[in-house]
Order: sequence, then C-alpha cells, then structure tokens
Amino acid sequence: DGVPLVKYCGCWFPVWMFRQILAAQKHYKAKDTDIILSTLPKSGTTWMKALMFSIANRHVFPIDQSPLLTSTPHKLVPPLEFDTFWEQDNNPDLEAIPSPRIFGTHMHFKTLPECIRERNCKIIYICRNPLDQFVSQIHFSSQNRSGRDADPVAIDEAFNMYCQGISPYGPFWDDILGYWNAHLENPGKVLFLKYEDLKEDITSQVKKIAEFMGFPFSLEEEEQGLIDQISGLCSFESLSNLAPNKTGDNNRTVKSSSFFRKGQVGDWTNYLTPAMAERIKNLMDSKFEGSGLMFKT
Ligand code: A3P
Repeated sequence: DGVPLVKYCGCWFPVWMFRQILAAQKHYKAKDTDIILSTLPKSGTTWMKALMFSIANRHVFPIDQSPLLTSTPHKLVPPLEFDTFWEQDNNPDLEAIPSPRIFGTHMHFKTLPECIRERNCKIIYICRNPLDQFVSQIHFSSQNRSGRDADPVAIDEAFNMYCQGISPYGPFWDDILGYWNAHLENPGKVLFLKYEDLKEDITSQVKKIAEFMGFPFSLEEEEQGLIDQISGLCSFESLSNLAPNKTGDNNRTVKSSSFFRKGQVGDWTNYLTPAMAERIKNLMDSKFEGSGLMFKT
C-alpha cells in the first residue's frame, strides 16, 4: 500500500521505523512495573492506550480532568520505538515517568527488547479480525499519503501482498500467533485481547484489563460507575470528537484524526469482494489451525 517495508527477523517493518526499533532494543531498560501494549497496527492501539492510561491514572486525575481531554492517547502512552525519545540526553524524562510506565509497540513478540521478557513487566496484546485490520490499514495509509481513500486497484495490490504476509508488521499471522503462544505459556505475563470482544462487552473487558494491570476496580468504584465513565471517555464517539484527536500534534508525522475512522466490526464487507474474504478466511484457517484461535468477523 505504498509504505516501504524492510524484512528483519521474519517481520516486515516500515523502513522509517527500523532505526527506532534497533534503538529500542538497545536502550530500553524495562522496570518490573512497566506495562507494554503491543498491537498490530489498526487493531485498537489508540483505544487501548486511552483505556490503559485511564485505568492506571484514575486516582491521579478525575475523569473530567483527564489528560485525554487535552492530549492524544499516543502522546500519553509513547511508543517504545519513538525516535527522539531515545535521543534526549540520558533520557531523563523516561526515568521520571511515574510507575506504571506504559509504552506502546508494534514489534513482534520475538523482536521485543530482551529485558521485557526477562523482567516482570507485563504485556497486553490486542488484535483484530484480519479482514477489518486490512481494510483499516489501507485507509490509514492512503489517508496519510494522499489525503484520499484508497482506490480499488491500490486495494487489490495491497491485498495480494497482505496475503503473502507483506504488510506493516506482517505477516499478520506471525504477529498474532507469537503473542498467542506467549499468552498460553504465561497468561500472567501476556494478556491477549481482541478488538471485537471490546466492542461486544467493554465493561467486562475493562475489568479484566484493570485486574491484569494490577489496578482492579473496588466494589465501591464499580458502584460509583467508574468503569462506565472510563469506557465512555475512551469510546470512539467520545475520543474522535475531542479537540486533540481532531487537530492535535501526535508526536508523529501522521494526522491525529486518521486514527479515528469508523471504529466498527465488519466494515470489510464494504470493501472486500466475497473472493477476497474467502482467501483471507482460508489463510486464517490454515495459519491458525490447531492454535485454538478464532475471530469474529
Ligand atoms: P477503522 O479504520 O476500522 O475505523 P489503531 O489505533 O491500532 O491505529 O487502530 C485504528 C482503528 O481503531 C480504526 O479502525 C479506528 O477507527 C479504530 N478506533 C480508534 N479509536 C477507537 C475507539 N475508541 N473505539 C473503537 N475503535 C477505535
């Protein structure tokens, strides 16, 4: 879809991210209290950043004074691979971030900095059914490249590459399976979530995320409706209408607004032909066979 990619350790990284990835592997020093959000792009990263930040900081900021009202989720939860992050002298800001420090990454499990696996820090992974993830990715790429929606020819070409595993942070199946297996091996270390489950029942998922993060909601908080307040603040409708997400600077070269498109399950039906859908479904069947992994589409 026009993003130049480079293959490293079996994974297709955007070329412009490669230096940052190596920098993260070299410089990042995990703390036991760190929490890493890992995602395939367009699988719910922005949503999870907002939720995790809100859950961990609910005693610091009341909901009506949440920094989400004035900053983008990507600013509040910085990426591990963020370039200038590593260029600051001795990273004083990094050390000064209060615990739990939350960072986002798109790295595959096997390419994460070694210290994340060695230390007791936790990993939350979210994925999304590949049909919607693909459709979201092509829109995101073309929006940021040309400011227009992808045309059918571009979709066809990107689709063929996607099915060969050539997409940002692809092959998608390797990324998903890497975290799935890590979760099965150590569920206390790796939480495995799906976008569709959050859409279906946000309350139970927020509870689960908070427990895993070590910030469970008390009965009193539940009765006060705090879970609903956080879910509401972080919903697509709410976040997409906040000023920082419409116009804000995102610490990135892409538009903040491009992280908010439709936020729905099943939008692929508007873009993929039945033959295309069949091809991805067959690919999923063969790649995920025996893993126990299933996606609602
Ligand atoms: P669509 O393009 O299907 O609308 P990421 O944050 O990983 O880049 O993913 C972006 C996708 O998540 C986009 O999907 C976007 O609209 C959707 N999204 C962003 N914020 C969301 C939210 N709060 N709730 C649900 N979906 C959200």
